[in-house]
Amino acid sequence: MKNKTNSGLTVFFFFLCLVSVTSDLEADRRALIALRDGVHGRPLLWNLTAPPCTWGGVQCESGRVTALRLPGVGLSGPLPIAIGNLTKLETLSFRFNALNGPLPPDFANLTLLRYLYLQGNAFSGEIPSFLFTLPNIIRINLAQNNFSGRIPDNVNAATRLATLYLEDNQLTGPIPEIKIPLQQFNVSSNQLNGSIPDPLSGMPKNAFLGNLLCGKPLEACSVNGTGNGTETPVKGKKDKLSTGAIIGIVIACVLGLLLLFLILFCLCRRKKKEENVQSRNIEAAPVPTSSAAVAKESADVPTPVTNGAPHSSENGASKTPAVSKDLTFFVKSFGEFDLDGLLKASAEVLGKGTFGSSYKASFEHGLVVAVKRLRDVVVPEKEFREKLQVLGSISHANLVTLIAYYFSRDEKLVVFEYMSRGSLSALLHGNKGSGRSPLNWETRAGIALGAARAISYLHSRDATTSHGNIKSSNILLSETFEAKVSDYCLAPMISPTSTPNRIDGYRAPEVTDARRISQKADVYSFGVLILELLTGKSPTHQQLHEEGVDLPRWVSSITEQQTPSDVFDPELTRYQSEGNENMIRLLKIGISCTAQYPDSRPTMPEVTRLIEEVSRSPGSPAPVSD
Ligand SMILES: *[C@@H]1O[C@H](CO)[C@@H](O)[C@H](O)[C@H]1NC(C)=O
Ligand SMILES: *[C@@H]1O[C@H](CO)[C@@H](O)[C@H](O)[C@H]1NC(C)=O
Ligand SMILES: *[C@@H]1O[C@H](CO)[C@@H](O)[C@H](O)[C@H]1NC(C)=O
Ligand SMILES: *[C@@H]1O[C@H](CO)[C@@H](O)[C@H](O)[C@H]1NC(C)=O
Ligand SMILES: *[C@@H]1O[C@H](CO)[C@@H](O)[C@H](O)[C@H]1NC(C)=O
Ligand SMILES: *[C@@H]1O[C@H](CO)[C@@H](O)[C@H](O)[C@H]1NC(C)=O
Ligand SMILES: *[C@@H]1O[C@H](CO)[C@@H](O)[C@H](O)[C@H]1NC(C)=O
Ligand SMILES: *[C@@H]1O[C@H](CO)[C@@H](O)[C@H](O)[C@H]1NC(C)=O
Repeated sequence: MKNKTNSGLTVFFFFLCLVSVTSDLEADRRALIALRDGVHGRPLLWNLTAPPCTWGGVQCESGRVTALRLPGVGLSGPLPIAIGNLTKLETLSFRFNALNGPLPPDFANLTLLRYLYLQGNAFSGEIPSFLFTLPNIIRINLAQNNFSGRIPDNVNAATRLATLYLEDNQLTGPIPEIKIPLQQFNVSSNQLNGSIPDPLSGMPKNAFLGNLLCGKPLEACSVNGTGNGTETPVKGKKDKLSTGAIIGIVIACVLGLLLLFLILFCLCRRKKKEENVQSRNIEAAPVPTSSAAVAKESADVPTPVTNGAPHSSENGASKTPAVSKDLTFFVKSFGEFDLDGLLKASAEVLGKGTFGSSYKASFEHGLVVAVKRLRDVVVPEKEFREKLQVLGSISHANLVTLIAYYFSRDEKLVVFEYMSRGSLSALLHGNKGSGRSPLNWETRAGIALGAARAISYLHSRDATTSHGNIKSSNILLSETFEAKVSDYCLAPMISPTSTPNRIDGYRAPEVTDARRISQKADVYSFGVLILELLTGKSPTHQQLHEEGVDLPRWVSSITEQQTPSDVFDPELTRYQSEGNENMIRLLKIGISCTAQYPDSRPTMPEVTRLIEEVSRSPGSPAPVSD
C-alpha cells in the first residue's frame, strides 16, 4: 500500500477478487448460511446470490469475514454450531437478541476474536473457560444473560483482556483472583460471595453491588471470614463502628495536624539554615571533578550520578546514597532558579498525564518552565537518578528540553522547557468555538515530520530505547508550531497501575505491560498519531470504542468502502484544494505503522524518510531544517 494510490487500489481489488474465489470465503459463507438456518426468530434477510461480504452485519477484510454484528435483530433460540468456522472473525456481536442455551463449543476455534458482545440475551449454562484462552480477546460482554455457575478460574489466561462485563446473571461462588490489568469490570447483580480480590479493589462500588461480596471497595469482610452476606448484621456492625470511628478519626486528625506542623516547622528551620550556609548546589551536568569538589564542600549535597558509568561513587565515598536537597540541573541556559524559587513561583495546572500532573511555573523575573510531578515512581533513587541523567544528556530539536529534576522520598519533579502553544491534542480536539485557528496541512505535515524525527532519534540511541508514551497530548508545539515531543522514556520508571483507567487508543495490540514498550509498539502509537492528525478524531474517544473499533480500524473500514479522502478532518479539507495526494500518502504511512503484527510495521527511520518524501513533494511544506 505504499505505492501510488491508483496502482495500489488496483492491486488491492485484484487481490480481493483473487481471494474471494478461494475456498476460505466459501467456508465463511457456508458457516453464515448454517447460522441463518439454525437460529430462530426473525429471519436474516440475506441475499444469497450476492457475495456474503455484502450481507447485512457482515464485514470483510482481505476477502474474509472479520466482523459479524447482528445487534437487536430479533434472533432467538440457541446458536447452532457454525460460527466457529468463521476463523478470521475478530468482532462478534449478538447483543440484545433473545438467544438462549449455552455458548456453542466451536467458539473455541475463533482464535482471532477480539471483541465479543453477547449482552442482553438469555444465554445460560456456565461461562465456558475457553473464552479466556482465546489469545486475542480484548473485550467480553456477557451481561444481562442467564449464565450460572462460577466465573472460570482461568480468567488470567486472557492476557490482553481489558473489559469483562458479567452483570445481571446468575453467577455463584467467589470472584477468582484476577491479576490481569482489567480496565472495565462489572459483576453486579449476581449471586457471587466471598471477598473481592485485591487487584479489583480500585473498581467502583457499583461494579460489585447486588451480590454477597465483601472487602474493598465494599464493606470489610467479617472477622470470621465466611462473609454472612445478609444486609442487617453488616449494617449493625457499621453503625457500631461509626461511633467509635468518629472519635478515632477526630483524634487521628488532631495528631496528624500536630505532626504536620512539627514537620513543617523543622523543614523551615532547616531551609533557613541551608540558605545561610549558601548551598545553591545548582549544578550543570556534573563533571567528576566539580562533583567531588561540591561533595567535599557539604555533606548534604548529592554525589551527582554521571552518565551511567560505574565510577568512583561506589567505593568508600558513600555507602548510603546522598540525599539531594535541591534540583539537579542539566542546562542552565533557561535561567537559574532553585527548588525554593520553583515552589514559590506561581503555578498553573496544565494537565494530568499518564505519569502525573504538569504545571506551568512562572517566576517573578519572567522565566516560565513546565514542571511535571511524577507519581508512582517505582524505581529506587539510584536508578531514578541514573535514568534521569541519561535523559538529561539527550538533546534534539524536536524533543522538549529537560532542564532539571528533583528527587526526594515524597516528591519527584521533572522540569522541562515550557511550550506556549500547548499540546497537539488540545489544538486538535480543544474548544473549536473559541477563535482557535485550525491547523492546515502544512502545519500538520510539519508536526508529523518533527515528531517522527524526534522518535527516530530516540530509537537510534540503542535498540532498547523507546519513547513509551506517544500520544497527541505529549506532542507539544513551539511558537512556530514545530513539534516538541515530551514525556519520553519515562514509562519504565512508573508503576503501570497508575495508567489511566480507560482504553488507551494508542497502545499496540501486543503490549501487555505499560512499562515495556518496544520500538515497534512506538511505531504503532506513532501511526495512530498520524491518523489522528489527518482525521481529527481522537483515538481515545468513547464513540469509537463502543462497537470495538479503534482509530486504525475505523480508517481502514472507511478507506475500503469509500474514497480515502472521506476520512480526512473537514477542517483540513475545507481550506485545502491541492495537496490531497500527499494527504493520502501520509495516511498510508499511518496505516502501515498500525499493522497488527509488529514485524509488518516499518521502523521509525523508514517512517521518517517516507514523511520527508511527502514533505518534499510539491504542494507540501518546505522541510523544516534539523
Ligand atoms: C465447519 O468446518 C468443518 C471442517 O472444515 C466442516 O466439516 C463443517 O461442515 C463446517 N460447518 C459449517 C456449518 O460450515
Ligand atoms: C441479490 O443479489 C444479486 C446479485 O448481486 C442481484 O442481482 C439481485 O437483484 C439481488 N436480489 C435482491 C432481492 O436484492
Ligand atoms: C473446531 O473445533 C473443534 C473442537 O472444538 C474441532 O473438532 C473442529 O475441527 C474445529 N473446526 C475447525 C474448522 O477448525
Ligand atoms: C435461567 O436458567 C434457569 C436454569 O438455570 C432457568 O430455570 C430459568 O428459566 C432461566 N431464565 C430465563 C429468563 O431464561
Ligand atoms: C458461598 O456460597 C456457597 C454456597 O451458597 C457456600 O458453600 C460457600 O461457603 C460460600 N463461600 C463464602 C466464601 O462465603
Ligand atoms: C455495573 O452494572 C450495573 C447494572 O447494569 C450498573 O448500574 C453499574 O453502573 C455498572 N457499574 C460499572 C462500574 O460499570
Ligand atoms: C462470626 O463470629 C461471631 C462470634 O465471634 C458469631 O456470632 C457470628 O455468627 C460469626 N459469623 C459468621 C458469619 O460466622
Ligand atoms: C447469617 O445471618 C442470618 C441472619 O442474621 C442468620 O440466620 C444465619 O445463621 C447467619 N449465617 C451464619 C453462617 O452465621
